[in-house]
Amino acid sequence: MCGIIGYVGERQAVPVLLYGLQRLEYRGYDSAGIAVITPASNRLIVEKQVGKIKDLQEKLWNKKIEGHIGLGHSRWATHGAPTIENAHPHTSKSEIISIVHNGIIENYIELKKQLEEKGYKFKSQTDSEVIAHLFEDLYEENLLKTAFKVAGKLEGAYAVGIISTKEPDTIVAIKKGSPLVIGLGKNENFIASDIPAVLEYTKDFIVLEDGEIAKITKDKVEVYDLKGNKVKKEILHVNWDVSVAEKAGFKHFMEKEIHEQPRVVSDTISGFTSSKESGLFEELKNASRIYIIACGTSFHAGLVGKFWIEKFAKIPVEVDYASEYRYRDKIIDDKTFVIGISQSGETADTRFALLDAKKEGAKTLGIVNVVGSSLSREADYTLYTYCGPEIGVAATKTFTAQLVVLLLTALEVGLKKKVLPQDKYEDIYQHLLAIPSKIEKILLKNKTIKEISYKYMNAKDFLFLGRNINYPIALEGSLKLKEISYIHAEGYPAGEMKHGPIALIDENMPVVAVAPKDNFYEKMISNIQEVKARKGKVISVATENDEQIKDLSNNVIYIPKTINELYPLLSVIPLQLLSYHIAALLGKDVDQPRNLAKTVTVE
Ligand code: AGP
Repeated sequence: MCGIIGYVGERQAVPVLLYGLQRLEYRGYDSAGIAVITPASNRLIVEKQVGKIKDLQEKLWNKKIEGHIGLGHSRWATHGAPTIENAHPHTSKSEIISIVHNGIIENYIELKKQLEEKGYKFKSQTDSEVIAHLFEDLYEENLLKTAFKVAGKLEGAYAVGIISTKEPDTIVAIKKGSPLVIGLGKNENFIASDIPAVLEYTKDFIVLEDGEIAKITKDKVEVYDLKGNKVKKEILHVNWDVSVAEKAGFKHFMEKEIHEQPRVVSDTISGFTSSKESGLFEELKNASRIYIIACGTSFHAGLVGKFWIEKFAKIPVEVDYASEYRYRDKIIDDKTFVIGISQSGETADTRFALLDAKKEGAKTLGIVNVVGSSLSREADYTLYTYCGPEIGVAATKTFTAQLVVLLLTALEVGLKKKVLPQDKYEDIYQHLLAIPSKIEKILLKNKTIKEISYKYMNAKDFLFLGRNINYPIALEGSLKLKEISYIHAEGYPAGEMKHGPIALIDENMPVVAVAPKDNFYEKMISNIQEVKARKGKVISVATENDEQIKDLSNNVIYIPKTINELYPLLSVIPLQLLSYHIAALLGKDVDQPRNLAKTVTVE
């Protein structure tokens, strides 16, 4: 998730661009850059820097870069490590066109090949650079006209800002799948990924929709659809202050990130397609055994991944806490694969356990959210989640994205091993594509879940129960609750309740039962009845229209129907919201809970 800013007007562009990038830092940064057209020479000046926005500011400190039009970009790497070459803005071959991009160009490999065959030389490993060269290659009359042609070539998600020395008073913007707004000023206009970037200068915005292209000069904004028809856009007047705007109007980053999950799931699905080039799946399909090692929420994702890999790829999987696995007598041979899951890619327990396994001859894969992080460099292979930075200490969107990567990996390997029929693969993939809209439906119950949270916010203990593929979801729900509300909570396999935890059940013990209409539903119903018989309070997560469970539960949070294998992607959402609201109602520091850090880089 990168940050884009653009300016055209009467001010000097550089300060506006740098200020805007600063405001977009929460969107993630590992490198940043600006491009400005200087009026004197009508040349493009491009300056980039690896690191934070302040590193770019220091680099520009004593450089006098005049110009009233420019683009800025803070990069959260998806393709290619954080380097100066990979930083945006990217320029075309003749250095007269410059672009900034946020999103994923799914067909960039094929476009890059076509352009290289035409003699274009690429300076970066990014997917974005193909856009700059495409603009040059397809250039006809003006940027706007060319933009329609370029948009027709691109597949995937993108928000793009383009400037050219041929039209030093014009910014063109294209929007599909990634956010882009136009800030409306007096004799000046802006483009930005998000409202906070330019809130200092204007409170009036045009929000571009997918498939819209805009031509922006300092005193005019025209918006078109992909067919070239002019689109009339209403003006949005916002009265947020900047800190509220960074959370897109939510009170905490965690709540905002919970609500980003539909986009994150679809971005991670898109991003996965471009990772199929590596030899990873060829090697994985020959694995005799897979160890998944991780910590915390990432460990829970691994537990779900075990079900999918064993079911679809028919490879035995063992999941272990990285801190435990590291010191075990590992049974490793040249057909052992170790998968380290870590959103930060910096968790010491996971990194060192994976490095030990690698030293003992295992092949290694990292499933990581941060490009260029230690784990992504230490593992033989890396698969990325496409979440953008996760600011809240409690992992939410990175968890669902990890599930997507694990599922797609299991499907891919199963297909290559010819143990998963093509039609079964297609069926599961189609159901996966429907998950983002199903998550949207659950998020609409945010208020209902907040009301339920009121009833249980003063409980001293919680028990979370689930079976089979939803047992890890019970564990994840209990971790979410305990780490942000400080209420003691345990996750348990529902079948284990009668072997001990049932002694805890009384009228003060809320029990969250993850009970979708899958093959274990009847057993979950019996467990719920056992809890009720001991006056326990039951909050059920159930498949919509399930009346039977409603009569048995004190509260029900419904989730849309899907195939049994995909319920974890949905059943976790209500648990994230329940934990969030209980912690927020208790006035806890939800984004930075006590004693915790977002990344634990010590053993
Ligand atoms: C989860 O909400 C916690 N923040 C924590 O358990 C986290 O999942 C764990 O520290 C692993 O982090 P990683 O994914 O960055 O390795």
